[in-house]
Amino acid sequence: MESKVRRIGVLTSGGDAPGMNAAIRAVARTCDFYGIECLGIYRGYNGLIRGDMKPLTAQDVSGITSYGGTMLYTARSPEFTTEEGLKRAADNCRFRGIDGLIAIGGDGTFRGLLDLSGYGVSVVGIPGTIDNDIACTGYTIGYDTACNTAIESIDKLRDTMRSHERCSIVEVMGHKTGHLALYVGVAVGATAILVPEKELDYERDVINPIREGRNRNRTNFTIIVAEGAASANDVAKVVSEETGIDTRVTILGHVQRGGSPLARDRVVASMMGYSAVKVLAEGGTNRIICYDGNVYTDIDIVEGLKMKKGLDESLYNILEAVTSGA
Ligand code: F6P
Repeated sequence: MESKVRRIGVLTSGGDAPGMNAAIRAVARTCDFYGIECLGIYRGYNGLIRGDMKPLTAQDVSGITSYGGTMLYTARSPEFTTEEGLKRAADNCRFRGIDGLIAIGGDGTFRGLLDLSGYGVSVVGIPGTIDNDIACTGYTIGYDTACNTAIESIDKLRDTMRSHERCSIVEVMGHKTGHLALYVGVAVGATAILVPEKELDYERDVINPIREGRNRNRTNFTIIVAEGAASANDVAKVVSEETGIDTRVTILGHVQRGGSPLARDRVVASMMGYSAVKVLAEGGTNRIICYDGNVYTDIDIVEGLKMKKGLDESLYNILEAVTSGA
């Protein structure tokens, strides 16, 4: 295949996610396969502004798939959102001969790509965030690993909560969205799951499920709180005041973003990295790579950013039934 681009830059931006390295590897290797030069850009858009980049060969990415984080480092770049920063980044693309850019990250990362495309650079976004909150794709790189990291920790918490007959309040990541909280909560069989998408009613959502459990002789409870839904400490206070149960708060925090990526993240990331290079090589631009759990496609960035992702209501709706047993 005769490629329409000669030099592709790749960067990771925003919060890191397990599997990003597998995507970087796939980009570098696919470039090599099609005779396209690949440049690794360091520290997200800041690297593009400062010219912090170097060639990324097929050998440079050897053995990185099993590592969490991102070998290119990442950053959130307020500078890139300014006219001056954007212009410097575009100048650097021109200066370094980058005619295609692949950015791995979330919505903010894709908005940055869109801005840059106005300067004549062909751009493709790869969804990478543990939040799984990008509307145009069913899956984002890192989600499965992050969910499993949280589940492993909560299973451990459950052992000690059971022994002490306590209520565990666990805060998981998710500032604006509760996809991770809901998925993890169902997986661990939580008593209650609090997400930012649903207005919180303590009596209905937390106290009642605990009382019902107690009526069935349950003595330990697990409440999953997405960080944007409520303060875990506030929830603990209400639970102990209203029920008298001894509570303990655990904030899982950034541990959820680390660790060796699981198979799903490595494989999806590899497919997405490959697909992104192909889109650029075939002359495509302004696209986001999407995966619905079955097929890989790509969508226009503007269209993709317009879409809104709601909570998985079918999963949320089973909660009342599946949390009602002792
Ligand atoms: O990567 C997304 C996310 O994990 C959110 O769930 C969380 O609110 C945010 O990043 C925190 O990121 P940081 O501490 O890196 O700014």
